[in-house]
Amino acid sequence: MPSFHLVSLFPDFFQSPLSTALMGRAREAGLVNFSFHDPRDFSTSKHRHVDDRPYGGGPGMVMQGEPLAAALRSIEQPGRILLMAPGGRPLTQDMARELAQEENLTIVCGRYEGIDARLLDLFSIEPVSVGDVVLNGGETAALAVIEAVSRLMPGFMGKEESGEDESFSHGLLEYPHYTRPEVLEGLPVPEVLRGGDHALIAQWRRQQSVQATLRMRPDLLNAAPLTKEDVQTLAEIPRERPGRNLSFCLMHYPVQLDAKKSGASSLTNLDIHDIARISRSYAMGSFHVVTPLQDQLRVLDEILRHWTRGPGGSGNADRAQALGLVCPAASLDEAVAHMTARHGIRPRLVASSAVWPGKGKGQAHKGPLMTPQEVRHWCSQGPVMLCLGTAKGLAPEVLEQCDGLIRPVRFLGYNHLSVRSAAAILADRILGDYC
Ligand SMILES: C[S@@+](CC[C@H](N)C(=O)[O-])C[C@H]1O[C@@H](n2cnc3c(N)ncnc32)[C@H](O)[C@@H]1O
Repeated sequence: MPSFHLVSLFPDFFQSPLSTALMGRAREAGLVNFSFHDPRDFSTSKHRHVDDRPYGGGPGMVMQGEPLAAALRSIEQPGRILLMAPGGRPLTQDMARELAQEENLTIVCGRYEGIDARLLDLFSIEPVSVGDVVLNGGETAALAVIEAVSRLMPGFMGKEESGEDESFSHGLLEYPHYTRPEVLEGLPVPEVLRGGDHALIAQWRRQQSVQATLRMRPDLLNAAPLTKEDVQTLAEIPRERPGRNLSFCLMHYPVQLDAKKSGASSLTNLDIHDIARISRSYAMGSFHVVTPLQDQLRVLDEILRHWTRGPGGSGNADRAQALGLVCPAASLDEAVAHMTARHGIRPRLVASSAVWPGKGKGQAHKGPLMTPQEVRHWCSQGPVMLCLGTAKGLAPEVLEQCDGLIRPVRFLGYNHLSVRSAAAILADRILGDYC
């Protein structure tokens, strides 16, 4: 039986929600208990003040530490102490399940700009957030925690299994529900649900669950325990493919050869194979390789011929498909012209670099410094060419032509990745939704 101890300046706030419907009944039946601790009752000031101006200036007021600390110390068995805070650990069904094991839970509700940060040094406090939004106070957020935890208590809900078959309980969102009438404004209930075949209904519901998760929360699919049938369901769903608007352009000229000099680098067979296979795996439109050197273009042509039309291609169709995406070009302008011809519109150019801009010479770039999500957004609007440098990176004249620069893959320490490794990571960060 969990006891919730609520530290709040507005205990009345909880009256209706904690006395209504299932929660009201559970409270009457003694399945859940609540105690209220108002920091104002512990204020030592004449006017029962509990807030003051922030050190360092700025708008708003801050909840003082002393009344809060006294309120917390007045609770005999506080158990785990949660602080409702927008910057806290996100509340999830897993966390609710974990908290449901506790006998006592104390929830501190912030108000104003929040609480004096030293409270977190004085007590073992876990900040918890109910979403990336800012509410007026922690009371609304505390109610979300209380409901999520309480409904997992045996006896709280009518049927105990109803908590087991809901969104997030199996790492997926829930399937849709229908009730009478059988036809609502011309819309019938799906046939399968009326047929009475329970195995078919279970299969349909699982498929709906997988589809809803892909549509609304594809991020959940990365951790969801998927079956072979679920993967089949996912593979059959036509998906938006922003990758078709994205192409890599592997630059061998002009690139930095050292801090001062730019020039041409040599082709690397491994880069061509691997970046072509990455492009194919992420359903990208094409893969441009730029070198003005005739002998290098001949080498490239020889590799492509062998693996697409030659003996390599007939024995390995997957490799032939991947290398079929490669478009040789003598210059960046020529590569851009190829992509423009294919899409009917000039691509936006995004540069890449191993170093954060401004850290070294030759890093001047035009346009925004972009996150992978922003590049993905550009891809949803039109074609994008992502320029990859070889040797010591793209020459300044290439950076100047680009419309934006994507953040380096690793920028806090050692970051000497091969260009093909960086290409794989960038493709996944820009396009990889799930699995
Ligand atoms: C107006 S908010 C303070 C916001 C704070 N200045 C900030 O920017 O993070 C007042 C109180 O509401 C609660 N609160 C607001 N949004 C919340 C959220 N998303 N999750 C949990 N608690 C929240 C916290 O207790 C917070 O101290």
